[in-house]
Amino acid sequence: MIAISWKDCYATKVARFDDEHKKLVEILSRYFVAHGEGRGEADLDDVMQELLVYAGYHFAHEERLMAENNYPHLNAHKQQHLCMVATVKGFQVLHAEGVQGVPGTLRNFLRDWLLCHIVEEDQKYGPFFNALGIE
Ligand SMILES: [Fe+2]
Ligand SMILES: [Fe+2]
Repeated sequence: MIAISWKDCYATKVARFDDEHKKLVEILSRYFVAHGEGRGEADLDDVMQELLVYAGYHFAHEERLMAENNYPHLNAHKQQHLCMVATVKGFQVLHAEGVQGVPGTLRNFLRDWLLCHIVEEDQKYGPFFNALGIE
């Protein structure tokens, strides 16, 4: 089952970020597969940790380029990144407390958040950066 895969309609037209988004989708896809195959908690935790580390790197990269170029929606955009990280950390606490069903809920949250964020927020910066010659 491949429940998430890259589609060209997700492109922001800023190559460095499209490459990073592809990597995020690839990691999340592996999480879907691991979850679908009923892999153990340790496997799921490893993939989730990899995703969080890479998301942190990617968010910082986007925010740095936005700040360097005075992107007008930087603060609102940053807020969305912070909100995602806080939500995932909240899920991890629930999971550590033994609440049932967290891996599946977290997987669906990440899929919905990631794809919505790319299409609705990240795609807004494409024309802005392209106009500055950043492609
Ligand atoms: Fe973003
Ligand atoms: Fe992004």
